[in-house]
Amino acid sequence: MPQGTYHFPKGFLWGTATAAHQVEGNNTNNNWWKWERDGHTDGSAAVAADWWGGRWREDFDRAAEAGQNAHRLSVEWSRIQPTPDTWDEEALEKYRAMLRGLKERGLTPMVTLHHFTDPLWLGNYGSWETEAVVPLFEKFVRKTVDALKEYCSLWCTINEPTGYALNGYVTTGVDSFPPGKNNMKLAMQVHANLIRGHAASYRAIHLLQPEARVGIAHQYRPMMPYHTWSPLDRLLTNAFNTTVNSFALTLADGVMRSPLGSIKIPEAKGTQDYFGFNYYTREYVTFDLRHASTLFGRHFYRKDVELSDDGFLAMEPDGMYEGLKWVVRTFPNLPILVTENGVNSADDSMRPRYTVQHIHQMWRAVNFNWPIKGYFHWSLVDNFEWSFGWKYRFGLWGLDVDTQKRIKRPSADLYAEICKENGISSEMVQKYCPESFEKLFPS
Ligand code: BGC
Repeated sequence: MPQGTYHFPKGFLWGTATAAHQVEGNNTNNNWWKWERDGHTDGSAAVAADWWGGRWREDFDRAAEAGQNAHRLSVEWSRIQPTPDTWDEEALEKYRAMLRGLKERGLTPMVTLHHFTDPLWLGNYGSWETEAVVPLFEKFVRKTVDALKEYCSLWCTINEPTGYALNGYVTTGVDSFPPGKNNMKLAMQVHANLIRGHAASYRAIHLLQPEARVGIAHQYRPMMPYHTWSPLDRLLTNAFNTTVNSFALTLADGVMRSPLGSIKIPEAKGTQDYFGFNYYTREYVTFDLRHASTLFGRHFYRKDVELSDDGFLAMEPDGMYEGLKWVVRTFPNLPILVTENGVNSADDSMRPRYTVQHIHQMWRAVNFNWPIKGYFHWSLVDNFEWSFGWKYRFGLWGLDVDTQKRIKRPSADLYAEICKENGISSEMVQKYCPESFEKLFPS
């Protein structure tokens, strides 16, 4: 049986990612809390993983003991700025304590400044629908970065602007986000304002902290033509890719491409010091007369592919490699951070092979000297999965929401071995997911 180890470069960042609303609990002053109260979600975040109550300490201990050397978390705008004219210094002090807690445990902090939630008061200013939001967000960013910069120099301004705009302004199904509108034109306006907010913050952060590294966590969900020979499938795939994946190009040339035409945002050009890459799955596109509302294009997971709990994600590790290739070609020499990758697998049956096979694809990319600097698994502990509430479990550690007890999944040990080894060995694959052995170590 072949033996070996796929090693990563020295200093590679191995961590997990979380977001404030999903783990903190009691974020009562934001639009998601209201959305949950209005009955749009499967349950409420409630106390979540109780990080605001202090349980971040035990979870950071777990991460450190498991050999992780980085953690990506987000701060909650509505806590730091509870009204347009007030700052909550105690909230900032709590975040400072959390970041200090990471450093004391040997974990490099990465802070996301906006991860899907908005303060309720932002609604009075039109949320992200008008440009009025840009100076408001920038003001919040200045205050927060100034307060936290002693402990952090790696910033993500906005998590998945595309997810925020499409789920909130186009999607009408179970996975929709607040405000639950269905208006593509507005979605594109919102997207443009998120990019404007990012660009303004990029400059503001660099003025406060010249050594800062600032970027966006872009969602990348490749769309592939189902019949490669079909010009229609290929055409529709391009249209879907423009809707889902092309927004990152705005940071290359200052032009936001959208299905409704282009919007110039020249100030966005060159405003990222790394490319934040969130990858979960890939989809296929085909021409289908029954799908008039999406230009007769239907997108779906392949039939023969393994699906996660409830069919939420398809296991498509090659898509990760292809996505990284796209990033390297589009943004040559820009460092890349895999800011999210993971799977909902409550009984952990799928997570070990999902994790190993995706990290293996990332290794292939690293092996070409593509500048990938770190990987953040989603997520450290089960957390509130937006519209799906507690139904989908993404944690290396499970969470009993009622008792707050953490339950270690086998994947936590597997990921610990990967972090400590700085690579994937044949022994690990044999131990945690022997069914993937032949794929990674062919005889
Ligand atoms: C989001 C996370 C979410 C994860 C799993 C990502 O798109 O940034 O907040 O929990 O997907 O669905």
